[in-house]
Amino acid sequence: ADVVETSFHVNTLTANRLCQNQVITVVNGTLPGPTLRVQEGDTVVVHVFNRSPNNVTIHWHGIFQRRTQWADGPEFVTQCPIRPGGNYTYRFNLTGQVGTLWWHAHSQWLRATVYGALIIRPRRGQNYPFARPFGEDTIMLGEWWNADPNVVESSALATGAAPNISDAYTINGWPGDILTNTSCRPNNTYRMNVVRGRTYLLRIINAALNNQFFFKIANHNLTVVGVDAAYTNPFQTDVVVVGPGQTTDVLLTANQSPGLYYMAANPYASAIAVPFNPNITTAILAYQNARQTTPTLPTLPAFNDTPTAFTFSSNLTALVTSPFWSPVPQTVDENMFITIGLGLSACGTNQTCGGIFNQRLAASMNNHSFVLPPRISLLEAYFRNISGVYTTDFPDQPPLVFDYTNVNNSFNQSLLMTEKLTSLKRIKFNSTVQIVLQNTALIGIENHPMHLHGFNFYVLAQGFGNYDPTNDPRKFNLVNPQERNTLGVPVGGWAVIRFRANNPGVWFIHCHLEVHLPWGLGTAFLVENGGTPESTLPPPPADFPRC
Ligand code: C2O
Repeated sequence: ADVVETSFHVNTLTANRLCQNQVITVVNGTLPGPTLRVQEGDTVVVHVFNRSPNNVTIHWHGIFQRRTQWADGPEFVTQCPIRPGGNYTYRFNLTGQVGTLWWHAHSQWLRATVYGALIIRPRRGQNYPFARPFGEDTIMLGEWWNADPNVVESSALATGAAPNISDAYTINGWPGDILTNTSCRPNNTYRMNVVRGRTYLLRIINAALNNQFFFKIANHNLTVVGVDAAYTNPFQTDVVVVGPGQTTDVLLTANQSPGLYYMAANPYASAIAVPFNPNITTAILAYQNARQTTPTLPTLPAFNDTPTAFTFSSNLTALVTSPFWSPVPQTVDENMFITIGLGLSACGTNQTCGGIFNQRLAASMNNHSFVLPPRISLLEAYFRNISGVYTTDFPDQPPLVFDYTNVNNSFNQSLLMTEKLTSLKRIKFNSTVQIVLQNTALIGIENHPMHLHGFNFYVLAQGFGNYDPTNDPRKFNLVNPQERNTLGVPVGGWAVIRFRANNPGVWFIHCHLEVHLPWGLGTAFLVENGGTPESTLPPPPADFPRC
């Protein structure tokens, strides 16, 4: 195994998109930022120098960070931000995962432009569980605002209303040459060149802030071979559904007549009454010696095509012959039932607030709207035994039992009001944890992409309506469930996940729709130390950022 060492210079760049200039924050002068390419088993060392006017942290989405908990990155969860002018070195090991992950800023809405791919290949002497592809490419789906995304966020928070929707979706930083909603036709479109008859590994990453996507390539079928850097049984499809935070590795065989084909993504917007950008974004799959000049466009699913989204997500299974597979724990030590959804928090006196009932929009887990501590990270407060920063009374059950997926509850103000708290759930080392994630239909009925830091989890079952504790456990896949770090919990439905808490530290679990994060759709799991040096939280590194 090698040490892969690099520097990230966080700086500003004037970028031209949608026919106008915008100053954005980027890493090493590019959008998307640099791709990290490693082999499984390698150690990664990234020196981050913040030369931008923003606070920044970098999160390595999907990396377990065993023994390197201080490198996980979420602001005020594991670290204080790297201030303008400051620097911090992230050092971690990549073991037990092959495929595609990514990195992104984890501070305000900076990840709109501060993100990049993290590609993990098999270590020397090991192979993929599929024929070696002729080539590969990375497709990063993103979202673009003609404004500073941090300002979009903070102005929404100031009024309590929903933030502005984005102005474009992007593929590898470019909106593409088909935009339905603007007279401006950008001439910059990402192009992937292929040779007829060859097979390529396509690494699809959803780096957008607030949207899930359908992704298709005209006239081509795709075979899913991995999600979130865990191998899956090969799954044939013509459409990939990918939520923010998720990655999907597919094999693409260039078996059509030599031509130009659009790859395109449009939003999967399951929500009722939540505004979203309806545009599509495109890139071009270009065969060598292509004969035509106008690419063929795929027919994309409708924005609210939940059956297609559910079929895709619920048919993925794990490849249990993978060297990285470990069997599902068959017993459960910690059983949690967590409602996730929107709500309201109280408007201050003498304020006017833009949410319904003149309150502020909020989001919650078990009715707790998670508040980050302002001056210290949770992990540091835990490590140094500093009291008053958080509590450990996050509930195992919601405070009220009601018909969670009944949309009429949206007008029941007593169900809507959430509590703003910094409450964590304390978990014994190595316990097995099962969580029923139950969406609510409060204010909006949505598919929430829930992301857990520090672990992969098994997806045992998913369904619509209210979870039924008597009958739904019969649907659990305890044999080869897909392993993920991010799962879209079906709109108006539920999902059951399970993981082994074998990684001590403080691990954020939250909705990866960026708009829901400052509204409080998150909590953190405080996993206690085990009995060995390997299972004990080490002290922070010497250059750890101070608040
Ligand atoms: Cu990719 Cu906490 O996030």
